[in-house]
Amino acid sequence: MNILDLAIRAAREAGEILRDYADRGFQIESKGRIDLVTEADLASEKHITSLIRGHFPSHHILAEETGGTAHSALADDYYWIIDPLDGTTNFSHGFPCYAVSIGVEHDGQPVVGVIYDPTRDELFAAERGAGATCNGKQIRVSTIDRLEKALVVSGFPYDVRERMDEYLPAWREFLKHSQGVRRLGSAALDMTCVATGRMDGFWEHGLHAWDTAAGWMLIEEAGGRVTKLDGSPFDNFSASLLCTNGLVHDEMLAVLRSLA
Ligand code: IPD
Ligand code: CA
Ligand code: CA
Repeated sequence: MNILDLAIRAAREAGEILRDYADRGFQIESKGRIDLVTEADLASEKHITSLIRGHFPSHHILAEETGGTAHSALADDYYWIIDPLDGTTNFSHGFPCYAVSIGVEHDGQPVVGVIYDPTRDELFAAERGAGATCNGKQIRVSTIDRLEKALVVSGFPYDVRERMDEYLPAWREFLKHSQGVRRLGSAALDMTCVATGRMDGFWEHGLHAWDTAAGWMLIEEAGGRVTKLDGSPFDNFSASLLCTNGLVHDEMLAVLRSLA
């Protein structure tokens, strides 16, 4: 089985685990004041990591709940970056907006990205140079070329209460300059929205590698653009992210720079 096929299988099977827990109930614990972890996060992650270890024992793994290899210059190595349940707060409340996210890097560059939304049964997949798909159909970013016509999305990291003054000004500006701003509660699904053209741009502070690893590949292969919030080149350990259809990128960067 190749890397893309295994990532697809792992994401689908982990999504099935999440669906089961959503149906029968689950224990919730707190990692921080507003940062939760459920039995479902842990079971999903265990399943994904054991599949990878079984098929690719030499590959490195970084998974949100159990950690793994720290990122370094892993030349020639494959590096799997996993969010077993992106959107845990939604999941805990029974709000059907969450996903499994599995990205694979090689030499620090994304090579495969798979995001599975079990509530809509949508499987997003991309492989470097081979395009991006949703349930097997090619996807492309939108052709909206002005921010005033754009629907954009964002989120808040778990330190929002401490750093609200830093995060809210961008919301204010995008509410003024775009057609609408949304907050879905799953960074991985936010990125699928940009990759499919359902939305035109996504910005967020304080993200982790597991939030962005798969979405980065998906957006690049769907024809979009991914940078840090200051416009510099993105990598999975950047923490800040701006991704768009490419056409509204400079306008969104100009808004963000006006706040700096
Ligand atoms: C969170 C979600 C949320 C984003 C947070 C993430 P989690 O991931 O993606 O949309 O705003 O920054 O931490 O904790 O549900 O996996
Ligand atoms: Ca996440
Ligand atoms: Ca998570």
